[in-house]
Amino acid sequence: MSGVLLYGAPAPGLVDVPPGAVQVSPLIPGSQDLAGFDVNIDEGVVLAPAGTLERDFVLAHTLRLLKPGGSLLAFGPKDKGGSRLKKALEGFGCVVGETARRHHRFCQVVRPEALRGVDEAIVAGAPRIVPQLGVWSQPGVFSWDRIDPGSARLMAILPPLAGRGADLGCGVGLLAQQVLASAEVSQLTCVDIDRRATECARRNLDDPRVEVVWADARGLALSALDFVVMNPPFHDGGAEDRDLGVSFIRAAAGMLRKGGTCWLVANRHLPYEAPLAAAFAKAEVRADAGGYKIIEARK
Ligand SMILES: C[S@@+](CC[C@H](N)C(=O)[O-])C[C@H]1O[C@@H](n2cnc3c(N)ncnc32)[C@H](O)[C@@H]1O
Repeated sequence: MSGVLLYGAPAPGLVDVPPGAVQVSPLIPGSQDLAGFDVNIDEGVVLAPAGTLERDFVLAHTLRLLKPGGSLLAFGPKDKGGSRLKKALEGFGCVVGETARRHHRFCQVVRPEALRGVDEAIVAGAPRIVPQLGVWSQPGVFSWDRIDPGSARLMAILPPLAGRGADLGCGVGLLAQQVLASAEVSQLTCVDIDRRATECARRNLDDPRVEVVWADARGLALSALDFVVMNPPFHDGGAEDRDLGVSFIRAAAGMLRKGGTCWLVANRHLPYEAPLAAAFAKAEVRADAGGYKIIEARK
């Protein structure tokens, strides 16, 4: 193949994306896996992620794939890693032309003859077992190398569940592992929008009762479930987006049977009471500490 790879979803008008560019962001269900490509490309257009290991993994893979003379445009918001992009690319042996526009930095490079440090960056950003968690994870995945404090609080009081259920925004599957400890759970659908998380979750949840789905949880066609567990996201592209959590609450209610329960954890400043009251027959706070509230809602 020769062509263009696009990583991420730049705001309209921010950059020119050549028609036919192949999407490789793990956050866009259906996209291709950048790490799985082994053919040269003409061009890479990369909205660089902010995290250093994740960013260098993506830049290194894109540079690896470029034909000699092929070009890379890497860019990002100035305050979310964009101002560190030039240095990162120079570290790979690139000569970088940098410009600034609309609070973003844009770095244009032509693939140099010799790249430096690419293999190391690919190893550093790859999936691996995180010893302190004992599970597969990958830099870039939510809370990739530590348990999220909100999830830990939910896990501390979550009772054994039973029947068919779902974990919405499952991450690498830590919460799901606990749910599956109950022999009364007959089936669990784990869904996340991040392909890397779902690939790790598949490895971490090797259980015939589990189905892991790479998708937007808000569009999942599940019904008559006995339970849903979730630590719903409330950030989209780095900015707080309360509507995301609210739409998870509505989606969970839509998946449950009458009388089914939804256990969720939320930062206590998030005003989920009204959407919970609208979607469920009853919602009660089961714990409120450390800045988190744990809610059990019954449909
Ligand atoms: C707060 S994290 C919780 C992750 C995991 N349950 C845990 O406890 O570590 C929210 C998760 O939701 C995922 N997510 C964000 N938007 C999503 C969407 N629209 N559909 C499905 N998953 C989504 C994120 O990738 C992230 O893994």
